[in-house]
Amino acid sequence: MRWVVRGLLVLVSVACLALAVIYGGSEWAIRKSHAVALPNIVADRSPAGVAEGGRIASAMGCRGCHGPNGNGVLLADVPGVIHAATPALARVAASYSDAELARLIHHGIKRNGQGVYVMPIEGHSRIADEDVARIIGWIRTLKPSAADRTDTLSFGPLARLGILTGGLKQEVIETPRATAKRPADTGAYIASTVCAGCHSLTEPREAHDDGRRVPPLLEVAPAYDLPAFRKLLHTGIGLSPRDLGLMGRVAKGDLSHLTDDEVAALHAYLQAEAAKTPAK
Ligand code: HEC
Ligand code: HEC
Repeated sequence: MRWVVRGLLVLVSVACLALAVIYGGSEWAIRKSHAVALPNIVADRSPAGVAEGGRIASAMGCRGCHGPNGNGVLLADVPGVIHAATPALARVAASYSDAELARLIHHGIKRNGQGVYVMPIEGHSRIADEDVARIIGWIRTLKPSAADRTDTLSFGPLARLGILTGGLKQEVIETPRATAKRPADTGAYIASTVCAGCHSLTEPREAHDDGRRVPPLLEVAPAYDLPAFRKLLHTGIGLSPRDLGLMGRVAKGDLSHLTDDEVAALHAYLQAEAAKTPAK
C-alpha cells in the first residue's frame, strides 16, 4: 500500500513539474519584449479619412475579427487549448498613443513591448502609412460601450506546449515594410496587404481554422475572368458551387468592401503576374 501511495506521489510530482516547465517556458516566450521604434504616424481624423479608414478596416479583416463596431468577438474557445477573444478596440486604444497603435498594426508589438499572437501581421505590415493613419482615425471615433468584451486571448496547457515547442509563434515582424503613400500599383498593393494575410502568390499554405489548403494565388486566379473574380470576392461564390469555407466567409465579410476599381486592378495584376511566373 505504501508503495502505491509513493508511486502516486511521484506521478503527481512529475505531472506538476511538467506543467510548471510548460507554464514557465511559455510565459517566458509570451513576455519576450521587442524594441522597435515608434513610427511617426498620426491619426487622420478628417471625415473622409475616418470613412475610408472604416472601409479599409473592413477589407483588411480588423472588423471581421474585432467586430463591426470593434466590440470584440469570441473567435474560438477550446477548453485546455485556447480562449481566443479579441479585445474591444475603444477600450484598449484609450491607453494607446497614435504611434503605438501604428506600431501594433505594422509590427504586431503591443504597448508594453510584447508581441501579438493570432492577429495576422504579414499583410498589415505593408499597409501604407497614410492608410494606417486613416484606420487609427476610425478607431478614435469608437466609444467604449456596454457591448464591449472584457476578456481577451488566453492559453491553455496545449497551446502553451505549442508556444514552448515553437508551433505557435508571435506574429511580430520587426523590419519596416510599408511605404508612406499607397503604391501606384493598386492591384499589387491589395494582393500584398489584404490577400497576403492568407495567400502567397506562388506557395501553398494552410488555413489557420480548419487546416484546408490555401492555394497560391497564381495557381487559382488565372481561371477567373473579371466578372467571375468580382463575384468571388464580393459574394464568396467561386467558379464551382462548392463551399469555399474560410474564403467564402472572408469574401462576404471583408473582401466585399473592396471597390470595383480595386477588384479590377487586383485582377489585372494577378493575370499579368501569372503570365510571367508559372505557379508551383
Ligand atoms: C484574425 C483576427 C484578427 C485580425 C484580422 C485583426 N486582429 Fe487585432 N487582435 C486579434 C487578437 C487575437 C488580438 C489579441 C492578441 C494578443 O493579445 O496577443 C488582437 C489585438 C488587437 C489590439 C489590442 C492590443 C493589446 O494591447 O491588447 C488592437 C488595438 C487590435 N488588435 C487592432 C487591430 C487592427 C487595427 C486590425 C486591422 C488592421 C486588427 N486588429 C486585425 C485578432 C485580429
Ligand atoms: C482569411 C484567409 C483568406 C484571405 C484573406 C483570402 N483568402 Fe482566398 N482562399 C482562402 C482559402 C482557405 C481558400 C481555399 C478554399 C478551398 O479550396 O476550400 C481560398 C481560395 C481562393 C481562391 C480559389 C477559389 C476556387 O475556385 O477554388 C481564389 C481565386 C482566392 N482565394 C482569391 C483570393 C484573393 C484575390 C484574396 C484577396 C483579395 C483572398 N483570396 C483572400 C483564404 C483566404
